[in-house]
Amino acid sequence: ELPHPSLCVTTGDFEAAAKSALPHRFWTYVSGSANSGLSLKGNLDDWARIRFRPRVLRNVGTVDMGGSILGHKTQFPFYVSAMGTMGNIHPGAEPETVRGIVRKGLHGVISTASTKTPDEIMDSYRREQSQVGDASPSVLFFQLYLPTDREKAVALIKRAKAAGYQGIWLTVDTPLLGKRTADRRLQAIEALSMGLEQEQTPNRPIGGENSLAPAFGGRDVPGQLSPHTTWEDLKWIRDAWQGPIVLKGIQCADDAKLAMEHGCEGILLSNHGGRQLHTAPSALMTLLEIRTYCPEVLDKLEVYVDGGLRDGADVLKAICLGATAVGVGRPYLYALAAYGSRGIERCTDSKSSMLRFGVLRVTLLTTFKYCRKNWRLL
Ligand code: FNR
Repeated sequence: ELPHPSLCVTTGDFEAAAKSALPHRFWTYVSGSANSGLSLKGNLDDWARIRFRPRVLRNVGTVDMGGSILGHKTQFPFYVSAMGTMGNIHPGAEPETVRGIVRKGLHGVISTASTKTPDEIMDSYRREQSQVGDASPSVLFFQLYLPTDREKAVALIKRAKAAGYQGIWLTVDTPLLGKRTADRRLQAIEALSMGLEQEQTPNRPIGGENSLAPAFGGRDVPGQLSPHTTWEDLKWIRDAWQGPIVLKGIQCADDAKLAMEHGCEGILLSNHGGRQLHTAPSALMTLLEIRTYCPEVLDKLEVYVDGGLRDGADVLKAICLGATAVGVGRPYLYALAAYGSRGIERCTDSKSSMLRFGVLRVTLLTTFKYCRKNWRLL
């Protein structure tokens, strides 16, 4: 018996609910990370190391948390990250998530490796939009795992465009799949119990990022970036897409600069939720590196962060340090697993209420925009 969703106040509460709701196999897949988990742990620990420097007696009677993502206004400085095969997590898969997203007026990024097709997901978005009237500012973006075959890649990009996605999040941190230790262990146990001994090759786990359920109902889409991709390819990807591109998975200042020089509209500082490279920098470390060595990137590009941001305080820290907005991954999957679209809504409320009341009123400056400019690190 799951607790009532209103009892879920923190990400930890959703996590506990999801753990009891999900079959062990899928719990392992969602909560898992690469190797011994150091990248994931760093994501969580690093945000906690930053402290607020409270100012008092400022007028915080009205707080505007709003901003925009690729020109699309949002009342929240966070969005739902791209996560594949949601059909493993909830029978309603991505459409179930999208219902919650639209009802809350959130923005969301839809994975190439989704259980449902880009068109099916967009259909559910439109259906929900018509239910809530024209009130929801919610917009969907498309996360691209670039297929190796260029014709297939162009077809996929055009399909996403035709479906109505408003931007591409090109995932660049996955030319090889990370070593998902817990998944591997589980697969080895299952194989042994069937009397098989599985062969494992380095850098290539049996299965992969999204291998548990076939994406797109088994249709032909990749679950990783074509390993042949280079900066040169951005040109034809842009020609095919004809719209804004965000590089997802930037992990150092040099690549942030290259993204700027190649005309990308945005970058997402991310180590894929600690699921890819072992001992990768957290988004916070990369953000601080950019602030030090090429702060102009923060003026010229939209700079997103994700990985380990678990409550409103973390989101606030990221915005104060110059991020445009924040991607939230596992917390939303946990909420989906336990409560479906209602969980997506509740998880949003729990974050924004912390932002609005818990943090700003008690400890911070006047408005979001004000504190963005006036932040100092201790
Ligand atoms: C992901 N992520 C991901 N990223 C991507 O570009 N394409 C994908 O298909 C997926 N799939 C996926 C599945 C699961 C189960 C997880 C947990 C993550 C990475 C995701 O977009 C994001 O970078 C991280 O999840 C952010 O970290 P937190 O918020 O989960 O700590």
